[in-house]
Amino acid sequence: MTTISALAETDREEWLPLWAAYIAFYASSVADDVTATTFARFLDPDVPMHAAIARDDDGRAIGFVHWLEHSSTWSRNGYTYLEDLFVDPASRGGGVGEALIAHVSDSARAVGSDKVYWLTAETNTTARRLYDRVARRSGFLHYERELG
Ligand SMILES: CC(C)(COP(=O)(O)OP(=O)(O)OC[C@H]1O[C@@H](n2cnc3c(N)ncnc32)[C@H](O)[C@@H]1OP(=O)(O)O)[C@@H](O)C(=O)NCCC(=O)NCCS
Repeated sequence: MTTISALAETDREEWLPLWAAYIAFYASSVADDVTATTFARFLDPDVPMHAAIARDDDGRAIGFVHWLEHSSTWSRNGYTYLEDLFVDPASRGGGVGEALIAHVSDSARAVGSDKVYWLTAETNTTARRLYDRVARRSGFLHYERELG
């Protein structure tokens, strides 16, 4: 059975390769100091940025999810943004991704968030198959402008 728990300092060495694999999935890169800051923020109770790690029966780390709580002009209670979701390729297709989304939903509900939302690439058909089953597609397009 998969167990999902809040990320702890002792998870660092197992989280790092999963994070690296996730960044590689996006053919991207994240500077080491940013990774270190990100991990530290997950553990800082004053930062509304959270992480959970999934483990298999043998206690091996097989996935993670990261999320942020934020205020909203449209809501008294604010929203939760699920920023990153990853499951090790060897453990996919068994419901771990869905369980990680459920974990964020439970956590968001517990702090009074009105909704959980996330983005995905149009081309990410694997993830979208799961998302189409557990969430509603908003119909909004995502724009961004780099600030150099
Ligand atoms: C998206 C992702 C997190 C899903 O994780 P997962 O543990 O496979 O998720 P689930 O098992 O809950 O659901 C996966 C779906 O693919 C199906 N599937 C079956 N075999 C599969 C396999 N070998 N590999 C992947 N998906 C498989 C599942 O049955 C399920 O489909 P369904 O919803 O129609 O039942 C995972 O594929 C991943 O880490 N992808 C790379 C990173 C990524 O895309 N992250 C999301 C960014 S927005």
